[in-house]
Amino acid sequence: MSKPRIIVTRKLPFAVEERLKKIFTVSFNASDKPFSNAKLVEAMKMADGVMATLGDNMDAEVMEAGAHGRAKIVANFGVGVNHIDLDAAADHGIIVTNTPDVLTDATADIAMTLMLNVTRRTWEHENTLRRGDWSGFDLVSGLGMSLRGKTLGILGMGRIGQAVATRAYFGFGMKIAYFNRSKIENVKIPGAQAVATIEDLMEMSDVVSLHLPGGADNRHTISRSRLALMKNTAYLVNTARGEVIDETALIEALQQNLIAGAGLDVFENEPEVPQALRDLVNVSLLPHIGSATLETRNAMGMCAIDNLVAYFQGIAPPNKLV
Ligand code: DGY
Repeated sequence: MSKPRIIVTRKLPFAVEERLKKIFTVSFNASDKPFSNAKLVEAMKMADGVMATLGDNMDAEVMEAGAHGRAKIVANFGVGVNHIDLDAAADHGIIVTNTPDVLTDATADIAMTLMLNVTRRTWEHENTLRRGDWSGFDLVSGLGMSLRGKTLGILGMGRIGQAVATRAYFGFGMKIAYFNRSKIENVKIPGAQAVATIEDLMEMSDVVSLHLPGGADNRHTISRSRLALMKNTAYLVNTARGEVIDETALIEALQQNLIAGAGLDVFENEPEVPQALRDLVNVSLLPHIGSATLETRNAMGMCAIDNLVAYFQGIAPPNKLV
């Protein structure tokens, strides 16, 4: 029996490409140049399955191409699926899978990295040193904020939110407050306080860390009016999706020192990062590297392959979303 044909939209880690090759007939993207919409449509028409990722605009037209063509499964390499029209996929009978769990630790680590960077002003200090402007040890300049005893507000207490809370409580001595739309059972952090509204969380926290999925429902959840509720000594950390924050309002809040700083791994219009944001000193900015360790990217790739394998064996893929 011939092997199913898979089209992969981006370059993958070596071990993942090797395993894919053993199981399927695969078209890789050696140039790593993102696919245009026309190319995604063609992939859905030509292949039995498509392995896609963040940045691939998997819209209704692409799903329709699958319905009329060959591909009936999109295996996303990543947990977030805000680039995939899930409703259109369901309407057209296309299965969509993702890769949860395996990137929880790596992403929580980057949230802590940003929290430490911004509260300890590491970018500012390193920049001074690299410019050759460090005049030696002193006792008063560039002081940061200690995390111990401060309140971390987690918005979205899912897997990653809980992993950040665990690190912050057990590792850094922070108090934990959180808001989650649905009730969360079994939060294993002593004293973790569920608050009734996002507004409460914004007001009470010394650091707010965002762990909401992207997509229309959560667009600009961190609005101008919610930013205005934060203490002017508080920090905002985002490792979720850029669109969760009204970026223009955030830039203004930072410029006016309405909040103390922000640590951002994600942006509203990636890879574009506004110059006004890049000009600020009270921010730590990373290029969407939450899951970027070799171990994690390998695990994500293997998880995406497991989903494809299950589908072609006629079993429900373990991480089927629609
Ligand atoms: C995800 O998986 O959603 C990350 O943000 C991209 O790796």
